[in-house]
Amino acid sequence: MIEKTVNTKTDETSTWANYYQKLLKAKHILNMKKIGTIGAGRIAKAFAKHVVKMGNEIILSNKTGGGRLDDIIKNLGPLAKAGSLEQVLQCDIILFSIPWKEVKEALSKINSWRGQILIDTTNAATFPDFKPLDLGGKTSSQLVAELAPGAKVVKAFNTIESTLLALDPRQGGGNRVLFFSADDLHARQTLEDLITSLGFAGVYLGGLSESAIQQFGGPLITRNFILLN
Ligand SMILES: NC(=O)c1ccc[n+]([C@@H]2O[C@H](COP(=O)([O-])OP(=O)(O)OC[C@H]3O[C@@H](n4cnc5c(N)ncnc54)[C@H](OP(=O)(O)O)[C@@H]3O)[C@@H](O)[C@H]2O)c1
Repeated sequence: MIEKTVNTKTDETSTWANYYQKLLKAKHILNMKKIGTIGAGRIAKAFAKHVVKMGNEIILSNKTGGGRLDDIIKNLGPLAKAGSLEQVLQCDIILFSIPWKEVKEALSKINSWRGQILIDTTNAATFPDFKPLDLGGKTSSQLVAELAPGAKVVKAFNTIESTLLALDPRQGGGNRVLFFSADDLHARQTLEDLITSLGFAGVYLGGLSESAIQQFGGPLITRNFILLN
């Protein structure tokens, strides 16, 4: 009985130690990366909130610029800056978070991809009745990747609502799960570091062809899981 108690405690301690080691390593790697967003709506704001809380700077861009973007920045604090698309494209990690109907036009304007990690949060749905769009057998992120040649496209931050995403991901002795998919190995590792540093638990699903499970209409949409430590 005593032996069992001691073993359990050791296991718990090493689980926490592993978690914090992973967190420290991830934070160290991310300190060297510049982060930006294309789109400054609900998902981008929730993402930016966690990024500044982690102590990193972030540059947000939107379609219209101006006063609305300035208000958003003010609410996020001094680590958040408003920027142009060109400034965001200088970042290493770029959250791509705009309505699906805008995707083709927005990406057609960009011809300077140079290996940036482009995190696709888009959900390809009809509006306002919210039905999955027919994408001809491809996943939405594969289509985004075709429109952004030279970027390392990954899929994440799209399965839960923005209000939930904005909340503290450390819940009930665990971390809120964020599902992600990536083809590129380096992008996969960086995204996992980012997700861990923000306080979430990343669960890798596979390459972009496997991301159907997390895209709009898939079984993981709106699912809120907590991974207990
Ligand atoms: N809201 C959610 O709970 C949720 C959850 C999961 C996934 N998603 C997906 O995430 C994406 C973003 O959703 P959201 O709810 O955050 O959107 P949102 O609140 O409606 O905001 C959209 C943002 O995209 C910007 N934008 C639109 N067209 C653009 C363009 N051509 N170039 C640059 N920026 C452009 C808008 O700029 P302006 O400010 O200038 O209008 C705005 O900042 C969507 O694809 C959505 O399906 C949303």
